Amino acid sequence: MQAVILVGGEGTRLRPLTVNVPKPMMPVVNRPFLEHVVDYLRGHRITDVILSMGYRPAVIEQYFGDGRDFGIRLTYVVEQSPLGTAGGVKNVEPYLDGDTLFVFNGDILTDLDLGAMLAFHRERQAQVTISLTPVEDPTAYGLVETDASRRITQFIEKPGRDQITTNLINAGTYILQREVLSHVPAGTYSMFERGLFPLLLERGAPVYGYAADGYWLDIGTPAKYLAAHRDVLAGRIAWPIPGEPVIDGVWAGRDAVIDPTARLVGPVALGDRVRVEAGAQLIGPATVGDDCVIGAESTIEDAIIWAGSQIGPRATLRRCVVGAGCTIHADVAIANGAVVGDHCSIGSGNRLDQNIRVWPSRTLEPQTITF
Ligand code: GTP
Repeated sequence: MQAVILVGGEGTRLRPLTVNVPKPMMPVVNRPFLEHVVDYLRGHRITDVILSMGYRPAVIEQYFGDGRDFGIRLTYVVEQSPLGTAGGVKNVEPYLDGDTLFVFNGDILTDLDLGAMLAFHRERQAQVTISLTPVEDPTAYGLVETDASRRITQFIEKPGRDQITTNLINAGTYILQREVLSHVPAGTYSMFERGLFPLLLERGAPVYGYAADGYWLDIGTPAKYLAAHRDVLAGRIAWPIPGEPVIDGVWAGRDAVIDPTARLVGPVALGDRVRVEAGAQLIGPATVGDDCVIGAESTIEDAIIWAGSQIGPRATLRRCVVGAGCTIHADVAIANGAVVGDHCSIGSGNRLDQNIRVWPSRTLEPQTITF
């Protein structure tokens, strides 16, 4: 069975983290997110994978090559301009060799049972099966209404409170019969939810929803990206954590050095060659990428730090993301959803708060931002 993974989006909601790195290559607990997805597919014996790409494809290609080192065969198909989700799959049609294919949004963290979903699709002789997941507040999503047999009856985009008839939303994994692609115009932007799927309903085609209540999260915003780390580190989804367990709830990569006076409270993941200096506190969930330095007396809590960043003495990082190769000087505080892009230098005494986003390669002089 072939799979198409949609990885062409610009990931605008995750900027500035996605300025240099496309969303699927963002690390989740120190491994590119897409590598987790590839492992998950291989675990379901899906080894023939087509990547439908547009934004920064070279970053993905350089890492995965032909896929052999990752136990899969990879085909890259790059769009000249964005074609959307349906258009992106239509664009890979020449590379499809079977009648049935899986399609994945490239930003979903899930343990959905693909074998069970495929059995469901075949039993119902569906043309399309859409994975569905329940959410607490359906008003922010596109809802998918089904009948008792799970045949889809209606798509409801961002409903008002009085329009809510279900809490099931499109979970971003699809099984398609190839023939449905004949309804998708070639070379034109089109989306599944607003184009192909409603059209198939109108024509009475068998379109089903497969509701699963396992783990599901899309990593599309900084808040959700942080939540994904919390959940992976807490074991809410069985995804491997790189490194070796060194003390209770703490994983460390090769040649990591932890000062004996540092305090680490798991779950904490440290990459290779990380140095944690005297009196530093790492309070999980926290993820620190390869080659980072966590300075003396600093405090890191519920934070993600990408590879090669230096955190100065007495800095405090709470519920925030710091990109790769940053220098965070002494006594800086970063908190409450703040995001610092790659290669920034944040001078001492700055306080970054309230979802502030600093674009890559910026230098903030000392004491420039103080809330
Ligand atoms: P935002 O800009 O933050 O909305 O992120 P995004 O661009 O990734 O869009 P969205 O989260 O809605 O996309 C869902 C999935 O579809 C992601 O895996 C995207 O990579 C993918 N995707 C979105 N637009 C395109 C496109 O035009 N072409 C292809 N091939 N994939 C796309």
